[in-house]
Amino acid sequence: MIYPIVKYGDAVLETPAQTITEFNQDLKKLVEDMFESMYAAHGVGLAAPQIGVGKRIAVIDVTFKEDPNAKLVLINPEIIKREGKQRSQEGCLSLPDFREDVTRANVVTVRAQDQEGKWFEHTGEELLARALLHETEHLEGRLYISHISALKRDIMKRKIKKLMRAGEWT
Ligand code: NI
Repeated sequence: MIYPIVKYGDAVLETPAQTITEFNQDLKKLVEDMFESMYAAHGVGLAAPQIGVGKRIAVIDVTFKEDPNAKLVLINPEIIKREGKQRSQEGCLSLPDFREDVTRANVVTVRAQDQEGKWFEHTGEELLARALLHETEHLEGRLYISHISALKRDIMKRKIKKLMRAGEWT
């Protein structure tokens, strides 16, 4: 099932998500739906709050279907290591058509559980490192715009308010 993507302005995006304690069939179905919803929205990462579900689940595929082995499911993820620096454009499905330069760590290790509840560690660099940080932050109720200047953020928020008034942000 493809869920609509929740846009900026909805409180679920700025609320810390809840820890997953049950690793059952419902969780597997939700993960499957998250991949489907992410691909439908042309994204390379999606966090559960972005489909209105306040749970600590994120999915990532930085190859966008090219490499089936690149599909990553992160349940209850935590960033445990950050190294180096990268700066490039970042966007978010919940803030469509906006992109800003964001400085991030270049190599990142995440610790997370898989769909069976088994803990694992995964290290990524460049785009994957960026996605690991971006999606894990979503689960903390944090958006990438918290990393840009207050001035740029205000300009973006003003544009969004305009779109909201015009009924073009739903
Ligand atoms: Ni995002």
